[in-house]
Amino acid sequence: MRVQSIAQAGKSEVPPQYIQPPSDRPNNDAGGKSGGGVDVPVIDLGEDSVREAVGRACRDWGAFQVTNHGVPIRLLDDMRKVGLSFFNECPMKDKLMYACSPDSAAAEGYGSKMLVDSDENHGVLDWRDYFDHHTLPLSRRNPSNWPHYPPNYREVVSQFSDEMNVLAQKLLGIISESLGLPSSSLKDAVGEFYQNITVSYYPPCPQPDLTLGLQSHSDFGALTLLIQDQVPGLEVLKDSHWYPVQPLPEAIVVLVSDQTEIITNGNYRSAVHRAVTNSTGARLSVATFHDPSKTRNISPAAEIVCQSSPARYREVNYGDYMSRWYTKGPEGKRNVDSLLIDP
Ligand code: OGA
Ligand code: NI
Repeated sequence: MRVQSIAQAGKSEVPPQYIQPPSDRPNNDAGGKSGGGVDVPVIDLGEDSVREAVGRACRDWGAFQVTNHGVPIRLLDDMRKVGLSFFNECPMKDKLMYACSPDSAAAEGYGSKMLVDSDENHGVLDWRDYFDHHTLPLSRRNPSNWPHYPPNYREVVSQFSDEMNVLAQKLLGIISESLGLPSSSLKDAVGEFYQNITVSYYPPCPQPDLTLGLQSHSDFGALTLLIQDQVPGLEVLKDSHWYPVQPLPEAIVVLVSDQTEIITNGNYRSAVHRAVTNSTGARLSVATFHDPSKTRNISPAAEIVCQSSPARYREVNYGDYMSRWYTKGPEGKRNVDSLLIDP
């Protein structure tokens, strides 16, 4: 069952599978709603002090927004527009032609979280539908698997993929330099990018206090770039408070992900984040994940480990890391903690 169909039925209560346990509900912030005055940093990539600002944001938040990023704003708008058109204007029976196979992990296509048998204890569902695209390397990109509607959908996603790739490389360079490393360090450790783009659609929800659009997690790859529409919903955890990421139409959200935490030996931590729902309007986001190949082994960078401290994380094969994540599910924990040598 698609969340959009449930929402459109117009009931005043959500089905029980969507109700979060009290500890995970949006208002159950460990220390009350976000601590006053501070906000996820917004960094102008054109500024001279960009390395210091990025370094500080990675250390303190694992998340920041960037402006002056070089990606045409029109492309960000087009990406949001085609994503929204698919969800809003395609009849459900057309959307279902793209339904992704529920039993293969990270399959391309239209989906929603489903309950699997082993899930009794963690079987709460997200109030979200999505469309996942395999975009890079080019050998994985097959636009004929993507929506035919609107007519420019595939062209926009292809262009968006290429622009996000360029920006992700640039950011890994800045992040490397912010640690005093050569700009190619992180990129060399990650290797060729495996890029996926997920368009998430969060329908209005009659009980936003009981549900989550997307449960708390950290992303398992190297770097996630995310754009959202004008509807708030994304939140980042810092010092046991949840902070909303303000929608800024020209900005791109950067989330440090698990492999970057490993490579930087924990100097930079992956951002724990989630999406909350609201009762008034649908929300759209587009997340672009940049991951290593499944055959890649990831470990703390030699330069960092020698310079200062011993390795804090075990080496891991990225394919193994990913399959562990998919079979267990995030369960609100940081998967990367399982690699800590001395937890
Ligand atoms: C994700 C994610 C947040 C959002 O897709 O991994 O965290 O705001 N999305 O949609
Ligand atoms: Ni995420």
